[in-house]
Amino acid sequence: MIVVTGATGTIGRALIEELGGAARAVVRRAEQGEELAAELGCDYVVGDLERPESIPVEPGDRLFLNSALWPGFARAHQAVIDHAAAAGVAQVVTVSVRGVTPGSLLGFGLHGQVDEHLKSSGVPWSILAPVGFMQNLAGDVDEEGRIVGSYGRGRVGYIDARDIGAVAAVLLRRPVGADAVHELTGPVALTHDEIAAELTRALGRDVRYVDLPVEEAAVHLAERGMPAAAARDLATLMSQLGDGRWATTTTTVTDLLGRPPRSLREFLG
Ligand SMILES: NC(=O)c1ccc[n+]([C@@H]2O[C@H](COP(=O)([O-])OP(=O)(O)OC[C@H]3O[C@@H](n4cnc5c(N)ncnc54)[C@H](OP(=O)(O)O)[C@@H]3O)[C@@H](O)[C@H]2O)c1
Repeated sequence: MIVVTGATGTIGRALIEELGGAARAVVRRAEQGEELAAELGCDYVVGDLERPESIPVEPGDRLFLNSALWPGFARAHQAVIDHAAAAGVAQVVTVSVRGVTPGSLLGFGLHGQVDEHLKSSGVPWSILAPVGFMQNLAGDVDEEGRIVGSYGRGRVGYIDARDIGAVAAVLLRRPVGADAVHELTGPVALTHDEIAAELTRALGRDVRYVDLPVEEAAVHLAERGMPAAAARDLATLMSQLGDGRWATTTTTVTDLLGRPPRSLREFLG
């Protein structure tokens, strides 16, 4: 059985759809499970990653471990990995972020901590390590049509998160392969000016990218409601991503799916 956590999320839904419904979705509320079962044909179990014993895994199962981030994310995911190892799960496939370490800023560090734990868990593993998701870009546009950041001219190969679900489906359906980190990107890396131009075309209103030094970007984020320390870390993170570490694209999606990843233009429609 393929057990899918984060089943109501963007990646989880795409994964279950790719599997033709042949999966057990883990949901936090029964109504969510009923909805997924009706829409995608899967079965479901009510469970919560904060209660590892509620994740229904049996010997030989394949586990897709993914969720949104929260402060207890690393502790909870690590406990679920231990639970899966004890249950004799055949493989854990997780979603992390490209290039993270346990010492990375914000949620990137939480992912780094989970990755380290999984690698030493004894369970066969695959870590999906994508760059940023196309799904977030339109939401980054403020009321004045600006995307404010500190990426500079750095390029990022944003990916459609549904392609991550499709990759997970391939890895979970085929015989368990060697442990590996799969770095996932979209087809091309764009500057944020180029992304703003794509959004302008798709949204039918002017969107422009405004690049700010880290200090000023942090003030801007804080003014929009983010706690000051987190705003500073996020602005720093953006400047780090702008240094080119997310500027190369990989062929992993094409290699595994036999088709290229969706472009931003295809995504925006
Ligand atoms: N956004 C990006 O640009 C980006 C880039 C790289 C990596 N990532 C990573 O991608 C992951 C998010 O994937 P996504 O976009 O598919 O997520 P998503 O659409 O935000 O959905 C989050 C899922 O997590 C579930 N969840 C949250 N807390 C849970 C808990 N305690 N127990 C069980 N389920 C829980 C939610 O369930 P409910 O419906 O019950 O809330 C939902 O199914 C994160 O790890 C993020 O760091 C994101």
